[in-house]
Amino acid sequence: MRFKDKVVLVTGGAQGLGKAICEKFAGEGATVVVADINETTAKATAAEIEEKYKVTAQGINMDVTDDFAVHTTMEEIEDTYGGLEVLIANAGILKAREITQFPVSEWRQVIEVNLIGYMICAKHACQIMQKRKSGSIIQINSKSGKKGSFRNSAYAASKFGGIGLTQSLALEMAEFGVRVNAVCPGNLLDGTLWQDSLFKQYAQTQGLTVEEVRKKYMDQVPLGRGCSYDDVTSVVAFLASDEASYMTGQAINITGGQEMR
Ligand SMILES: NC(=O)c1ccc[n+]([C@@H]2O[C@H](COP(=O)([O-])OP(=O)(O)OC[C@H]3O[C@@H](n4cnc5c(N)ncnc54)[C@H](O)[C@@H]3O)[C@@H](O)[C@H]2O)c1
Repeated sequence: MRFKDKVVLVTGGAQGLGKAICEKFAGEGATVVVADINETTAKATAAEIEEKYKVTAQGINMDVTDDFAVHTTMEEIEDTYGGLEVLIANAGILKAREITQFPVSEWRQVIEVNLIGYMICAKHACQIMQKRKSGSIIQINSKSGKKGSFRNSAYAASKFGGIGLTQSLALEMAEFGVRVNAVCPGNLLDGTLWQDSLFKQYAQTQGLTVEEVRKKYMDQVPLGRGCSYDDVTSVVAFLASDEASYMTGQAINITGGQEMR
């Protein structure tokens, strides 16, 4: 119960990895705020978590790209729960296209959600955490934040930027006792993003069948399997806990060794 009575905000927490992160913290006693543009699913996820883990969970509508909405949400969290100990900047989107065919509006949208959305959420969380002289911010980055991604330039650019932002915030917030880190997961092949859209997008942009895409990405992993939600949530919880009190400005690979290939 490392997070008993701590307040944790997870952006993009309604489904997928974000939901798994919400459950991990709830399982260790945290009060969890599930923030997502998909309000209906965010509320359903929060209700499910309250029922399953007997903790307080709140589902709210929040677009990470909307500075005013994020500011208001953070103020409400502070008023309602008395503070914010952990921010998980998880909301992210992916649009894969060849650069010659990439509409600038779509490229910009990926940067807007994945990079600027992270900045906006971190900014307002830092305002609360700075006052209270403690806190932990963790960005859900990607292995594509350290290595280019084939026909997937917007996503890789947004995630590379996220590591620069993480390191810079870590430097700026260190004197206030606020730690800022990122995790870089490999391919969550059985998760929502791959199942709902990535297999199709990569098959199309790479001229492969869905089965060939799965084989291609499995073959890149020395440990021989895709990344699971549990692989990621255990590292996220460790980084947010006092056990990681000497870690800041890091971007931890959770890839089964994929970056070595
Ligand atoms: N799936 C993977 O293989 C993988 C690998 C590495 C990193 N990641 C990262 O993990 C994070 C979660 O991805 P996922 O696989 O669970 O994807 P997902 O698409 O299943 O979930 C993303 C969630 O973010 C929400 N969201 C999207 N735009 C938003 C916005 N503007 N404001 C608030 N919420 C918004 C969506 O509604 C959704 O609930 C992302 O940052 C992604 O880049 C995923």
